[in-house]
Amino acid sequence: METRVVPVPTRNPLGRFSDDAGKGGLARLDEWRINRDDNDNGTALAALEPAAEYLRASDTPVAFPTETVYGLGADATRSGSVRGIYAAKGRPSDNPLIVHVADLRMLRALLRHGDRGAHGEEHNNNSNENGVDDDVIPARYKPLLERFWPGPLTILLPNPTPSPLAPEVTAGLPTFGVRMPSSQLALTLIKLAGVPLAAPSANASTKPSPTAARHVLDDLDGRIELILDGGACDVGVESTVVDGLCDPPVVLRPGGVGMDELRSCPGWEGVVKAYKDQSEEGNNKAAPRAPGMKYKHYSPKARVVLYEASCGEGGAGVTAADAEDAAARLTSNGDATSQTNGHPFRRVGVIRTKRWKPAAGIRCDDLRLEEDHAEAQPQAETPYSVYTGGLKDEQGSIVGQVFDISLGTDTRKIAHGLFWALRELDRRGADTIFVDGIDDELDIAAAVMNRLRKAASETRA
Ligand code: TXA
Ligand code: MG
Repeated sequence: METRVVPVPTRNPLGRFSDDAGKGGLARLDEWRINRDDNDNGTALAALEPAAEYLRASDTPVAFPTETVYGLGADATRSGSVRGIYAAKGRPSDNPLIVHVADLRMLRALLRHGDRGAHGEEHNNNSNENGVDDDVIPARYKPLLERFWPGPLTILLPNPTPSPLAPEVTAGLPTFGVRMPSSQLALTLIKLAGVPLAAPSANASTKPSPTAARHVLDDLDGRIELILDGGACDVGVESTVVDGLCDPPVVLRPGGVGMDELRSCPGWEGVVKAYKDQSEEGNNKAAPRAPGMKYKHYSPKARVVLYEASCGEGGAGVTAADAEDAAARLTSNGDATSQTNGHPFRRVGVIRTKRWKPAAGIRCDDLRLEEDHAEAQPQAETPYSVYTGGLKDEQGSIVGQVFDISLGTDTRKIAHGLFWALRELDRRGADTIFVDGIDDELDIAAAVMNRLRKAASETRA
C-alpha cells in the first residue's frame, strides 16, 4: 500500500458554528457549517472531500490532524472500517476508541438512535413543550461542554441500545468516549463524512503520539493510504478523558484540560483522579478504568531517565553518576564494530524544561546549533532547536554525541513540543534521554508528567 501525504492548507476559517437562535450556551455548538463561499477554502475542500468519501467507503483508516495529536480515523458506525484502525496500529482490541463528532446534532442523532430506530431523527431544541429538559446529554456534562467544547476533552456517555456505533469502538464496554475537536480541519472532515469518526492517536501502538504528519508517516508508512497534513498540532498532548456518569466524577486520563479547570465547573468541584502515572505493565491487580492506560505507552526506543520536579539533585541537572553512566554506555546497536574512524557511538539526549542549563551537566564540547535545520525541525511551526556537542569521558576524549533540546519554560509550549522531542531524539539514535520534569499540579502539566512517567524507564524522585 502506498501512503500519500496530502497537504491541507487552512489559512481562513473552513466553517463556523451556527448560533442562529442566539441562544448561547450549548446551542452554540448545534451545527458546524462549512464555508464554501470563501475561494481560499477551495484547495482545502478539494483535499477533504475525497478523503471524506474514502472514509465512508473504505476499510482503511485516514490520518488527520486534531488540535491535540494526529488521529487515525474511520467511520465509527461500520465494523469493517473500525477493525481497520486496530489492524493499522497494531492496537490491542480491548482498548476502546474515542468517537469524534462535528457538532451536537451529530452527537444527539447518535444518542437518540436507541429510542428512535434507524436514523436517529432530529431534535432541534433542548426542551419539550412543557419546557422540561429532555436533552439526551446528561446535565452533569453541560457546564463542561459549554466551557471546553470544541476542544481537548473526551466525555463518557452510555452507549444506546441498539447502538449505531460498531461494537469494536467500545470494546465491549457499556459506555463510549466522545469529543468535539476544535481543529477546523477535523470538524470539516467529520462533517463532510457525515458520520462520527472513531479515532485513536495515529501512532503505531506504544510509540509517542504523532503531532505532525511526518510522525504518522514514520510509524504507518505502507499501512494506510492517506495522511492529511494540516501542520503541527497546537496542544501536543491528547484530550482529557472524564467520566461524569459516576459520583464523584473522575478523570480517566489527564490531557489538554487540567484538573483545576474541571474543578471550576459546577458539579465538578469534587472531581478525582482515577489514573495511575506509572506504567502499569505487568501489574494485573486491578482492571484500569480507561483500558488504554494499562499498556506500554509513549515510548521512544531510548532509555528515558526522568528527573521529577521534586528531585533536589535534578535542579542542578543530570547527576554525575548518571552522566558517567551515559558516557560509558553503548547504544543499542553500539557494539565495538559500529565505531568506525572514531565515529561516535554513544548518543545522549537531553530534554530541558524549567530548570536545566544547556547539556544539563553532561561533560561535552561546546554545543552548536544543528546545521541541518529542515531535519532538525520537522514541525516548521515549532520553534525548538537541536544543539549538538561531543560527549566526553572522564579523560576528556570524545566518546559520542550529545543532543540538547530546550522546550522552554512555558508549560503549554513544553506540552506542544514533548512528543516531537522524544521522536526527534529517537530518530538520531539516542541511547539515553534525560528529561527535566515539571511540577504537575496545574493545567496541562499533569498530562506532560503522566506521559513522561509512562515513557520513563527510570525516575529520579
Ligand atoms: O486527543 C485525543 O484524545 C486523541 C485525538 C486523536 O482525538 N485521541 C486519542 O485516542 O488519544 P486514544 O485511542 O489514543 O486514547 C483513548 C483513551 C484510551 O486511554 C482509552 O482507553 C480511553 O480513551 N477510552 C475510550 N473509550 C473509553 C470508554 N468507553 N471507557 C473508558 N475509557 C475509554
Ligand atoms: Mg493513543
